[in-house]
Amino acid sequence: MMGDPAIDREAFKEFEREGFSRVAQGYDGAIAHVTSQANEGILDAVETGSGSRLLDVACGTGWLSAAALKRQAIVTGLDYAENMVVIGRSRFPQIEFHLGDAENLPFESNKFDAVVCNLGILHFPEPEKAIAESLRVLKSGGRYAFTCWTPPARNPFMALILGAVQTYGIIDVDLPPGPPLFRFGDPDECQKILSASGFTSVSVTELPITWTFSKSQDVMPTIIASSARLGPMLAMQTQEQSHDIENAIIQGAKKYATDNVIQIPASVVLAVGRKP
Ligand SMILES: C[S@@+](CC[C@H](N)C(=O)[O-])C[C@H]1O[C@@H](n2cnc3c(N)ncnc32)[C@H](O)[C@@H]1O
Repeated sequence: MMGDPAIDREAFKEFEREGFSRVAQGYDGAIAHVTSQANEGILDAVETGSGSRLLDVACGTGWLSAAALKRQAIVTGLDYAENMVVIGRSRFPQIEFHLGDAENLPFESNKFDAVVCNLGILHFPEPEKAIAESLRVLKSGGRYAFTCWTPPARNPFMALILGAVQTYGIIDVDLPPGPPLFRFGDPDECQKILSASGFTSVSVTELPITWTFSKSQDVMPTIIASSARLGPMLAMQTQEQSHDIENAIIQGAKKYATDNVIQIPASVVLAVGRKP
């Protein structure tokens, strides 16, 4: 499956790039510790250790890069949203961060022992291109791993948010259309794309993730302040829709209250392949 012709790839890319740069601070404060729960699983899957040259594609503010640095890897991070890179550079000055596009990597071929991408692939208009680029910059024998959110049927957090919008608002608001959010939440799609791209020893597993909030009222404002697409989608509902969506999210989140915190389960698919 090559890029969907109904998607204006440049419009989508620009919308998301601008969105991620705008929410970089909020993302760093509210979401990065959630997505970071996959870090050790990803680094184990690509066998990151001392001296490995690792590229973190769509690195955000650099938490996965920092986890690799802790293992004494030689780490390069890349993201196309300027403010993500600015925060990464100021927090982790030992890491080399590049501003650049996952679909057109600014690195020579056969450079890295591992390439990782945590929750970036669902944001690329042409994931095949991004995967081909990752393969190109890997050394022979090097490993590639990406993650994607599992779909609402296996992901209570996504079911709560998207279910509330579907029931009380409009999911198809007027935003630049993008690729299907959960394409790579399907293990078969991951297996297919990695094999078709030339990877061998492909494996696909799932990792658990927990979203933690101090109170159910925090869920919707957190999403609005920190996500490039869900935030604008929620902000574009009418006042009444917005009120009903928020209420549904608050009531739904309360079901996950334990010991005075809200803990909502979710999960990601982890897909791994080896360059022959
Ligand atoms: C959901 S965030 C994940 C960030 C980080 N990997 C993490 O685990 O927290 C998605 C990231 O992908 C970046 N991104 C999206 N499309 C990209 C592209 N074409 N090239 C580089 N970065 C991209 C965004 O700027 C954003 O930082």
